[in-house]
Amino acid sequence: MIIGFGCDHAGIELKKTLMDYLSEKGHECIDYSPLSPGEKADYPVPGRAVAEAVVAGEVDKGVLICGTGIGISLAANKVPGVRAAVCSEPYSARMTVRHNDANIIAMGARVVGEDLAKMIVDEFFAAKFEGGRHQKRVDLIKEIEDNYSKYSC
Ligand code: RB5
Repeated sequence: MIIGFGCDHAGIELKKTLMDYLSEKGHECIDYSPLSPGEKADYPVPGRAVAEAVVAGEVDKGVLICGTGIGISLAANKVPGVRAAVCSEPYSARMTVRHNDANIIAMGARVVGEDLAKMIVDEFFAAKFEGGRHQKRVDLIKEIEDNYSKYSC
């Protein structure tokens, strides 16, 4: 799988850890926010970059990290077609793919430790969307996006 990564300054170390971890497992990892330690970044910038890469099909899925995972996921979810879920434990990471067809996972580097973050991404990337009754609900999310996109120009 091709995975896009993004983080703000709070997520630099965890992002690197997860990129190394997932690369070792055979995934291609692309960094959309190459930051040096000490450098600052506003979370909407990497959130948007990874979200746009997912929607454009440049990458299959995305991993976003900020202090809490919240701000960067809020930014990503503004891009139509993105379903970014903040997860702090493996069960939610599995279920957000199975039921919500999530295409981005967000985590808080100040919330989860490295080992827990690895378990979370393992569940996220192993899970498959179940479709069926869940497809209708994902379609209803898209309907909201389509409705509001009428008003933007
Ligand atoms: C940065 O200090 C922090 O606000 C950011 O990483 C994130 O937690 C926002 O949601």
